[in-house]
Amino acid sequence: MFKNYIQLKQVSKIYKNKFTALKNVDLNIQKGEIFALLGPNGAGKSTLINVLCGLTYHSKGSIIINGMNLSENRKKIKSMIGLVPQELHLEAFETVLDNINYSRGLWGKHKDDNHILDLLKKLNLDDKKNNLLMQLSGGMKRRVLIAKALSHNPTILFLDEPSAGVDIELRKEMWEIIYALKKEGVTIILTTHYIEEAEEIADRVAFINNGKIILVEDKKVLLNKLGNNKLVFTLRKSFQKVPSLLNKYPHRINRKKSTIEFFLSKDKSEVSDILLSFKKSKTQYLEFNIEKRSLESIFVDYIKKEK
Ligand SMILES: Nc1ncnc2c1ncn2[C@@H]1O[C@H](COP(=O)(O)OP(=O)(O)OP(=O)(O)O)[C@@H](O)[C@H]1O
Ligand SMILES: [Mg+2]
Repeated sequence: MFKNYIQLKQVSKIYKNKFTALKNVDLNIQKGEIFALLGPNGAGKSTLINVLCGLTYHSKGSIIINGMNLSENRKKIKSMIGLVPQELHLEAFETVLDNINYSRGLWGKHKDDNHILDLLKKLNLDDKKNNLLMQLSGGMKRRVLIAKALSHNPTILFLDEPSAGVDIELRKEMWEIIYALKKEGVTIILTTHYIEEAEEIADRVAFINNGKIILVEDKKVLLNKLGNNKLVFTLRKSFQKVPSLLNKYPHRINRKKSTIEFFLSKDKSEVSDILLSFKKSKTQYLEFNIEKRSLESIFVDYIKKEK
């Protein structure tokens, strides 16, 4: 098995109207990982996914998937891939079962009722299998899209904004489905606006902005490295300056919120000293909390830095 299952080298995408949507993207994705692409609207997430799925052509660079060059093996590579697209496009007058069976047929795979019924069961759609697609709710339609994407047993699954318009319960259900697929060895690449989604399920995350990958990191490493804890004190509105005793601890003042945030080391050993300094300096506070920096704040800082 190839270590870098999906390998992009200096990949650019220039659309017909000369707009450059991807700029020199270098990326390696490993077999069986859950990889999340995060970025603002128009960053190039869907473009990247569509290029990898063979829906549109890249303009420069090379893409190797499972040791095969995408430009030379499009058909074979496409048959290994399932895509849950961002937009919900479904035939209104087909039944769930026919529609999913049809998707499988498109890949030249023989009919396999057991596989499809199994999928429907996993996706909690088995009681709707004979419904017309127009008779489904939005969340159910998204599940049909997942079933279609999985109908031909792909080894790579792309999910473009799987949580858009999905309630929290279905989102959690979808995470379960994604975990189960990972267990089966499927490589999963998803885009999301919900940073907590990436925080919850991804093994690695990439930040993309203006067509450029600005960071790729193991999620846990990223949260450990940049997601340090903060000790946040809310003071009385009237506070003027930070007492000198507290100055030696790295901090940030937010006058609007009347807070002082102290950046803590991993073992949070400063907490008792800071509390003691508050007491000694007779500085009163309304409350204090320990806050963990989220992937979201790391992401927002990165995007700001890029601007
Ligand atoms: N067919 C096209 N022709 C020209 N430009 C395009 C085309 N498709 C997308 N773009 C442009 O490429 C950029 C990236 O679009 P893309 O759809 O990849 O963004 P995205 O990161 O998926 O955004 P969103 O979060 O809104 O889904 C945008 O500026 C968009 O207008
Ligand atoms: Mg998109």
